[in-house]
Amino acid sequence: MRSKYILICMIYLLCFSACGKSLQQNKVESDEVYKEDYIVVGFSQLGAESDWRSANTESIKKSLSRENGFELIIENGQQKQANQIMAIRTFIQKEVDIIVLAPVTETGWDTVLQEAKDAEIPVIVIDRMVDVKDDSLYTCWIGSDFVLEGNKVTDWLHNYLKENEIELEQIHIANIQGTLGASAQIGRTKALETAARKYGWDVVAQVSGDFTQTKGREVMAKLLEEYEEINVVYCENDNEARGAILAIEEAGKTAGTNLNRGEILILSFDGVSQNAKELLKEGKIGCIAECNPDHGPRVLEIIRQITSGEQPLKEYYVTEGMLLKEDLEE
Ligand code: AHR
Repeated sequence: MRSKYILICMIYLLCFSACGKSLQQNKVESDEVYKEDYIVVGFSQLGAESDWRSANTESIKKSLSRENGFELIIENGQQKQANQIMAIRTFIQKEVDIIVLAPVTETGWDTVLQEAKDAEIPVIVIDRMVDVKDDSLYTCWIGSDFVLEGNKVTDWLHNYLKENEIELEQIHIANIQGTLGASAQIGRTKALETAARKYGWDVVAQVSGDFTQTKGREVMAKLLEEYEEINVVYCENDNEARGAILAIEEAGKTAGTNLNRGEILILSFDGVSQNAKELLKEGKIGCIAECNPDHGPRVLEIIRQITSGEQPLKEYYVTEGMLLKEDLEE
């Protein structure tokens, strides 16, 4: 009887040490010896489409460093949801401690996030949101208020038109949208559409530029051929804005803030790259609503909360301002 009891205890201990995994216990083999305990994080980044995205990846890398006690595995989704789903499944197989997800679009995450939940791996969503039926499928979200960003730009345009006594009938807006279905696109487009209805603005076209310079340039070139009257371009990020400016110049036109002289006014989002700030300073971009990519420190704090048994806030909005030419000159 006693030996049977000892045997059961031994089996239990063996199973427990083989399967039991607490957040701080994921060991990383280094130089053939299990030297230290790291928190293993699988980060599914949606892509590398913009300067903002590169800054965002850097911020995560900096915060979830070895020095801070992390083993970070980054997978680049190349702007494709299928790649991101595959990455998450790999993270689950590897039994990472935490998954960080920067989703390309909002919908289509229910199944894979359920799989992560079943594996008891907390998921921190950053930047864009996920639209899932059950919000317990992720631990928390941290990112921007994209509608608010859009409102800042449309307010700026409204005031600009008033100050420069430009009549409603004089403006014709093209909207180069971000990746369709991404929160940043949905929010910023929504803000423009709301303002256009409110003020009676003419939005002549809405086309996706996929948040890239190449697509922004390509799309703008086509728009200029099709719509002679376009004199305001609402780009949904700085890379698209840069592409649009190149296309405008290639078409022999000028990007600038003097609509009365036939210039084309560019509006944009992000304010991360030096190049975008230069374009703003030169007056080739009228205004930029800031989008903050620095999610690393906050993610670090959230992981600390999770590992110490605290419940992080479900949603956390980063603070953001507005970039204007006059502020940069100062
Ligand atoms: O989701 C945030 C947006 O995605 C940024 O504005 C853009 O530059 C990036 O690609």
